[in-house]
Order: sequence, then C-alpha cells, then structure tokens
Amino acid sequence: MRKTTERLMAEHEEINAVLNTLFRAVRVEREGKLLGNDFWHDAIDFVRTFSDNYHHAKEEKILFPAYCNNGMDVEYGPVAVMLRDHQQFRDCINIIEESLDEGEEGHVKRWGATGNFIEGLRFHIHKENNILYPMGEDILSLEDENRLMEMFDDAEIALDGVATEEHYRMVAQSLEKQVLAAFDRVVEAEAE
Ligand SMILES: [Fe+2]
Ligand SMILES: [Fe+2]
Repeated sequence: MRKTTERLMAEHEEINAVLNTLFRAVRVEREGKLLGNDFWHDAIDFVRTFSDNYHHAKEEKILFPAYCNNGMDVEYGPVAVMLRDHQQFRDCINIIEESLDEGEEGHVKRWGATGNFIEGLRFHIHKENNILYPMGEDILSLEDENRLMEMFDDAEIALDGVATEEHYRMVAQSLEKQVLAAFDRVVEAEAE
C-alpha cells in the first residue's frame, strides 16, 4: 500500500473512533442522559476541523484532482459520489449545530442528524478504503505519489500539522470519556 493511502486510512481510523463515540452519545441521550452543549460543540469542532478541513480537504484539493487528471470524471462516478457525500456530512453537522439552540425540540432532530452522519460517514470511509483508494493506486504513477506526499505535507503544515493532530486526538479521547461516564450512569440507573 502506498504511503499516501496509509496516511489517509490512519485518519479514517481516528474519525471512525469518534463515530463510535457519537453512536454511544445518541444512545445515552435517548436514555434521558443529555451530554450538554459543550460536548456537542467539541464534537462539531472535531468533525469540522479534523474530519473536514484536515482530511476531506486533502482528498478534495489534492487527491481527487490527481485522480481526475488521470482519467476519472469529476461529475460522474466515484469521485463525484465522494464529493456529494462530503457535502451531505456538512449539512448534517449544520443541523446538529442548529439543534443545540432548539431545546427539547432539537433533541430528536440532533439524534436523527447524528445517526445519518454516522451511517453515511462509516459507509463513505469503507468505500474509500476498499474501492476508491485501491483504484487510485492503479492509476497514479510513483511520480504522482511523490508529488502527493509533498502536497499532503504542505497542506498539513498550513494547519499546524502535528500540533493539530495531537490536539484532536485529545478531543477525541475527551469525548469518549464523557460518553463512557454518562453511559455508566445510564447502566447504573437501569440496575437500580
Ligand atoms: Fe472522503
Ligand atoms: Fe476519507
């Protein structure tokens, strides 16, 4: 597997871990234990800054254009589907953010949008890991790969690189901790 693919797949793993946390978060809130707006603002920040600006931006601005320069179509086929998916995820996150100011009425809206987001992004990651990236490795030359590595480095450095990765790793851990603590309280309440 090429280094660029490994880099993107490592980010997918971190994103997937947060999706697992959000899946539990919805379950906990449905059981009546609200996590609070700070939790959701941190989750939105992770998704917008790490998943979207740090990860999707490398795909949209660097990787997919390289695919399209080598025969893939930007309006039809897998790249077009991936771009549409990214936009749908942004729409879901906007709905989750709106729901935070809408009191009780916002709860169901948030759970629905979070569920759609989790399901959509898990499937999206699966499609990239198993279909699109392998197709890309077949069409990109080693020269392309070297150029992409440099462009990935530049894009990451422009977003504070390692410091940003470290920060969002901690955000992901903090989100998980909060959900697990709330989850334990739900289980205790059920046992009583
Ligand atoms: Fe993507
Ligand atoms: Fe991706």
